[in-house]
Amino acid sequence: MGNDAFYVTTPIYYVNDQPHIGHAYTTILADVMARYHRMLGEPTFFLTGTDEHGQKVAKAAREQARTPQEQADHTVVRFQALWERLEITHDDFIRTTEKRHTRVVQEILQRLYDAGEIYRDEYDGWYCTPCERFFMEKDLQEGCCPECQRPVDQIREANYFFRMSQYQQWLIDYIEANPGFIQPAFRANETLGFLRRELNDLCISRPKSRLDWGIELPFDADFVTYVWFDALVNYISAVGYLSDDATFNTWWPASCHLIGKDILTTHTVYWPTMLKAMNLPMPKTIFAHGWWLIGESKMSKSLGNVVNPMDMADTYGVDPFRYFLMAEMTLGQDAAFTEEAFVRRFNSDLANDLGNLVSRVVKMIHSYLDGTVPTPSPDALEAEPDQALWAVTVQAIEQMEQAILSMKIDAGIAHVLTAIRATNRYLEQKEPWKQAKLDDKVPLSTTLYMALEVLHVASALLLPVMPGKMAALREQLGAPSGDPDFPSLKTWGALKPGTPIAMTEGLFPRIVVEKEPPAGAPPKANAGGKAAKKEKTPATPEGVQLISYDDFMQVKLRTAKVLNAEPIEGADKLLRLEVMIGEERRQLVAGIALFYKPEDLIGKSIVVVANLKPAKIRGIESNGMLLAANKGEKMRLITVDGEIASGAEVR
Ligand code: MSP
Repeated sequence: MGNDAFYVTTPIYYVNDQPHIGHAYTTILADVMARYHRMLGEPTFFLTGTDEHGQKVAKAAREQARTPQEQADHTVVRFQALWERLEITHDDFIRTTEKRHTRVVQEILQRLYDAGEIYRDEYDGWYCTPCERFFMEKDLQEGCCPECQRPVDQIREANYFFRMSQYQQWLIDYIEANPGFIQPAFRANETLGFLRRELNDLCISRPKSRLDWGIELPFDADFVTYVWFDALVNYISAVGYLSDDATFNTWWPASCHLIGKDILTTHTVYWPTMLKAMNLPMPKTIFAHGWWLIGESKMSKSLGNVVNPMDMADTYGVDPFRYFLMAEMTLGQDAAFTEEAFVRRFNSDLANDLGNLVSRVVKMIHSYLDGTVPTPSPDALEAEPDQALWAVTVQAIEQMEQAILSMKIDAGIAHVLTAIRATNRYLEQKEPWKQAKLDDKVPLSTTLYMALEVLHVASALLLPVMPGKMAALREQLGAPSGDPDFPSLKTWGALKPGTPIAMTEGLFPRIVVEKEPPAGAPPKANAGGKAAKKEKTPATPEGVQLISYDDFMQVKLRTAKVLNAEPIEGADKLLRLEVMIGEERRQLVAGIALFYKPEDLIGKSIVVVANLKPAKIRGIESNGMLLAANKGEKMRLITVDGEIASGAEVR
C-alpha cells in the first residue's frame, strides 16, 4: 500500500427506514474528508453502503408487507438519491445482499471455522430483540437490556460462537500502544473500560427458525450469520478481500472508519478481534462522532422530531446544509440541531461575512475599475495591513491542513472564517471607496486584489464543504480551473490580472426571520427575500409554511373541561365559555355560536391553546383559544376521545 493512500468509510446504514440527518451527517463528513484528502494529492477511496440483513430489516419488511429483499430494494434508492442530492463523491456503494459481499462473508466464516476460531455451543442467555443482542445474566441492568433498558427474553438454543474472548488482552494492549487507533481519546477509554470486564465469545449465528434473513452459514444451513459479523466485513469485501489482492493491498488497512458513538463497541471490539483472527492489519483510525440532538432531545420517530435531510436541502440549499453540519458540530461531541441555530449561523458566517465580502469586492471592481482582476502593486505584500492579511490567510491554509489531519474540520472552517473577517476589517481600514477617488489606481487595485486573493484561497479551502457554491465562486473569480491543491494555495498571485470577474446574484442571500410572531403563534423561520424565492421554502401541499418541531412545541395545547357557556349580546357568532384547565379556571371567547348551542358544550372535553396572550374580543377578555376543525359551512370542535383529566398536555 502506498503510504499516503486514504481510505475512508461510513457505517453502512440499515434499510429499515428512510435516511435522516444522522446518516446525512456521517456521510457528508466522510465526503468532506475524502475531498480534502484528494486536494492533498492522496489517492483516496471513499466507501459507503447499506446494511440489508438482520432482524431490523426483516421486521420493517413485515410491517410493510414486503419481502426483506423488496424492503432493501425499496429503501436503498432513498439513500442513493440522497447521496446524489447532497453531492456525495463516494467511490463505491456496497449492499450487503450483493454476491461480492455474501461470498466473502461465507469464505471468512468457513476459514475461521476450519481454524477453530468458531465453535458450536448451547447458549443460555437473554436476548434483546430491538438491539438484536444476547446478554449474560450479569450484564443485565435491573433485568433489562444494558444498551436500551428495554425488557429482554430468556433464550436457550444452539449457536455458533467466535472465540473473541481470547483476544481480550491483546486488544487492550493494542489500544494502549496505539493512541490514535480509537478517536477521540475519551472513546478509547470507553472501550478500555468495557474491556476491563470479562469479554465473552461472540455469538455469530441466528437459527433460521427465529430469523432467516441473513447470510447462510457455509457449514450449517440451519443458521444465518449475525448481522454485525456480516456488516463489518463490508469494509474489506468492497475493496477486494479474497477477490482482488492488488486492490485490497492498495486500500487496506483503512485510514479511517467514521462511526457514530452508538456503534463504538461493535467497531472497536468485534471488528478488531475479527481482523486479528483473520490475520489482517488493523484500520489506522476508528473515529466516533457524537450525536445530533434535536434541540435538547434525542431524535426519535416517537417524538416526531426526525429531521429529513432532503427537506433541509430543499429549503436552504445543499451547500449551506453541508456547511452547517460541518461547522456546528465539534467532532466527537454531541451538537444541537435547531432551525434557529441554522439560520443564525447561515446569516452570520455565510450571508454577512463571506457573501457580503464577495458582493462588496465584486461591485467595487465593476464600479471603480474595469470588471477584471486588477493589477496589484509589485510590492503589495511589503506594507501593512496587506502583509498581515496575507499572513492570516496562509495561516488559515496551514491550520486547515492540520485540522484535516487531526479530524477537527469545524476548527479548520473557523480559521477560514477568521481570514474572511480579517478581510472585511482590512477593507474598512483601507477604504477603497476613498482610494477610488485618487488618480493613481494602484492603491485601489492592490486593495481589491488582496481581497480577491483571500477569497480565492477561501473558496478553495471551503470547496470540500460547499462544492456547488464554492465552485461557482471560483468561476466567478476567474480562479485557475481544475481542483485546487494545498501546496500551490500558499503561493501568492493565483489570480491573473485582466481575467474578467462576473457580476452574479448574491451567493448567500440573508434569511429573513419574522421578528415578532403573532401572539401565541409559533415563530416562523421564514426564509424571506431572494433566498426564499431561489431556494424552495418547504410547504405543505396547500402551500402553507412548514415549521420546525421546536416551533410547534412552543404552542402549549391543553385539554379543558367546559363548565359554562353563554351567548354574547350583540355578537351572534360568539360564545363566552368558562373552562377548567387543570386547577385553573379560564374565560374564553370563541366564534362557534353558529355551530353549537351553549348547553351542548357544557361538560365537553376540548383542546385549547393555553399560552396565547390574552385578547379582548367585543370588550370581553379571552384567555386562550379553542381548537376546531372548519371547512366551508361546517365547524366541529376538537374534543378528547375518552377520559383524561383537564390540563393534560396535547402533542
Ligand atoms: N447498520 C449499522 C452500522 C453497520 S456498520 C458496519 C447501523 N446503521 S444505522 O442505520 O443505524 O446508522 C447508524 C449510524 O447513523 C450511526 O453510527 C451514526 O453514524 C448515524 N447516526 C444515527 N443517528 C444519529 C444522530 N442522531 N446523530 C448523528 N449520527 C447518528 O448502526
